[in-house]
Amino acid sequence: MLSFSPKRILIDTDPGIDDAAAILLALASPELRVEGLSIVHGNCSVDQGVTNALSILELAQAAHIPVVRGCERPLVQPSLLAPETHGQMGLGYAQLPPPHTKPLSQHACDFLIERVLSAPGEITIVAIGPLTNLALALRKEPRLAQAVKELFIMGGAIRHEGNTTPLAEFNTYVDPHAAHIVFHSGIPITLVPLDVTYQCILTEAHLQKLDPLPSPIPAFLRQATRYYMEFHDQYQAIAGCVINDPLALALTFRPDLCDYQELYVDVDISGGVCMGKTFADFYHMTGKPANMRVALGVCVNAFLDFFVQRIATLSRKLLNEEVEQEG
Ligand code: BDR
Ligand code: CA
Repeated sequence: MLSFSPKRILIDTDPGIDDAAAILLALASPELRVEGLSIVHGNCSVDQGVTNALSILELAQAAHIPVVRGCERPLVQPSLLAPETHGQMGLGYAQLPPPHTKPLSQHACDFLIERVLSAPGEITIVAIGPLTNLALALRKEPRLAQAVKELFIMGGAIRHEGNTTPLAEFNTYVDPHAAHIVFHSGIPITLVPLDVTYQCILTEAHLQKLDPLPSPIPAFLRQATRYYMEFHDQYQAIAGCVINDPLALALTFRPDLCDYQELYVDVDISGGVCMGKTFADFYHMTGKPANMRVALGVCVNAFLDFFVQRIATLSRKLLNEEVEQEG
């Protein structure tokens, strides 16, 4: 018999509509073992993010997974939240019941340090919000960089336009100093920028495939993404919504979904019009070695179909478990 051990992951997140979709994808994937959610400011306040994370876990019957509260603002920059994109509460029109569970009392930075150092080389981190928690953890415990197995970051726009300024992507714009620390930390990084995520548009047709399932999960996704779709329509003339964070999550065990280049990448922190802009040295002009693998091509339909299938499987699994509990 083949032995199969799931990949151990921690998700650092600012939940957030597409963060919620990424968390559900992780819970739907037997290839992964989610060992914690660390919450950071970003799409909504950190306190709202904690509530959202706990409620999403309860929705998916995964309330055993620990949630920890992290930083409430960027390292240097003023706070910037995204109610126009994700709604006042962070989950669009979705209204999940208030959670019964509570976050751990530990700070997210200490949680990340403790969990990773207790299993050096074994834990993968998926960072799908501003990188404040991770940067602060690296400053507090520099050995963290050597102990992380791999880091997947949803962030940056390499050849793509920005989604927050004409040049910068949200996660790197909100805390560019944190991104700078993490990019130069020596952790093996896979960057998942807007270049690939903006090709992955979840549409009404995808949601319709989930509609027949009498599970609260498709209903949640529909209510949350309705707001997100209105944002994309109004601000970017996109029919549907870009699911950035689930792509970064999927690449942890489906690397075949993207094409990559090893590149030296940096982020602008000089405070001008390029603040938060990520840029890559494609022609080796700096002479600096590559510091990350960057996803620059994506199998769009394969990813979107995969996402929908996994959400459907999770919904069916939870329905079956409910029936078994009742029976
Ligand atoms: C990123 O910013 C947020 O709006 C999303 O959750 C995603 O992590 C995309 O720029
Ligand atoms: Ca996010």
